[in-house]
Amino acid sequence: TGGMITLDPGYKNTGSCESAITFLDGEKGILRYRGYSIEELAEKADFLEVAYLLIFGELPNKEQLSKFHNDIREESHVDEEMKKILDGFPKSAHPMGVLSSLTSALVAFNPSSVDVSSESEMYKSIVRILAKFPVLVAWAMRKKKGLPLDYGDDTLGYVENIHKMMFKRPNKEYNKNKIAIDALDKLLILHADHEQNCSTSTVRIVGSSHAGLFASLSAGISALWGPLHGGANQAVLEMLEAIEADGGDTKKYMAKAKDKSDPFRLMGFGHRVYKNFDPRAKIIKKSADEVLGDLGIEDPILEIAKGLEKEALEDQYFVDRKLYPNVDFYSGIIYRALGIPTEMFTVMFALGRLPGWIAQWREMRLNGEPIGRPRQVYIGENHRPFVAVDLR
Ligand code: SDX
Repeated sequence: TGGMITLDPGYKNTGSCESAITFLDGEKGILRYRGYSIEELAEKADFLEVAYLLIFGELPNKEQLSKFHNDIREESHVDEEMKKILDGFPKSAHPMGVLSSLTSALVAFNPSSVDVSSESEMYKSIVRILAKFPVLVAWAMRKKKGLPLDYGDDTLGYVENIHKMMFKRPNKEYNKNKIAIDALDKLLILHADHEQNCSTSTVRIVGSSHAGLFASLSAGISALWGPLHGGANQAVLEMLEAIEADGGDTKKYMAKAKDKSDPFRLMGFGHRVYKNFDPRAKIIKKSADEVLGDLGIEDPILEIAKGLEKEALEDQYFVDRKLYPNVDFYSGIIYRALGIPTEMFTVMFALGRLPGWIAQWREMRLNGEPIGRPRQVYIGENHRPFVAVDLR
């Protein structure tokens, strides 16, 4: 019904699952979190509300939201010893690798967050990681910039606090830029969940062994890192910068993308599920225009992106394969305008996806799902006798 797929009864052991969290219709370009359209949530909600909705299934009232935020604030301290782990990484380390390691290391400082089954223990782990992960994200960025590692400010809103932790300069007043904070909040909402994508499936299958929430999230971060998945937002910017350096020759890159002998793909295009416009890409494209306009930024990269999109949408190869811009195509242009380094783009994706991963892990654990154990079609050798090495 409504475009839902029917699953083979044996699906329980294949990594596919039933879920009540996010609905996608790839043909119609529909995305809903717990039944609410992504367009309405991006316009009317804030990221913490959406995190609550994804995890607990309902939009919170004022009291619920305030308690949720205060419970998170209670957990915003990250053990100082964690800085020693961060110090062990070279400045050149990719922040996705750093964050996957730090997220896993958090278990050592929060032993009760190894797997939990009661809802109250689960809640504790959930508010803990929602509090500490943004601190780790800010530390990873500040380490790259050679800035002192700081803690947040509990008087601020959730995303406002993230922005301050990332951008506060030593010995300077924090410049609370509402345009930037609102843009960041919207981007985090748009990345918050996307049903059983590669990294979410990873979180669910690692969690199904009862390895615990933090270990499952650490695995999800690694899966998201790949350039075919969340790493695409960094690859898109690098591609657009290469086109700009190449005199803006978009036709050359379109030809490369269609050349079967060339491994190059148009990053930020195509999707396993969407065979229509990714609804998130539409919202982000509109937001990119607004944010750059409000911040008074003229970015030639945005014009190159729009030119490339126009060409691809009119190109028969792309039309035949239903290749449209996806969530990653325009997001990096906004991150760049907000002063976020390109290497941090996929980390911002992970920050947005955190509540979705948590919601999916919680659903899987509360459903008492069995350990994920995909099967295979064996296509190897038939049974054969051993041959001694001197006879081979
Ligand atoms: C995300 O799953 C999710 O929900 C993911 C995500 C989320 O929110 O979690 O939405 C986030 O990961 C978005 C996708 C970001 N990745 C990229 O932008 C990387 C570039 N895109 C492609 O690598 C590709 O489109 C994928 C990986 C996204 C989807 O790959 P599929 O579904 O396996 O498609 P395919 O490789 O089978 O391609 C089908 C055809 C092929 O040509 P033919 O063999 O039919 O001739 O389309 C071609 C492909 O060569 N093709 C592309 C292309 N994507 C597919 N050709 C050029 N450029 C591209 N980007």
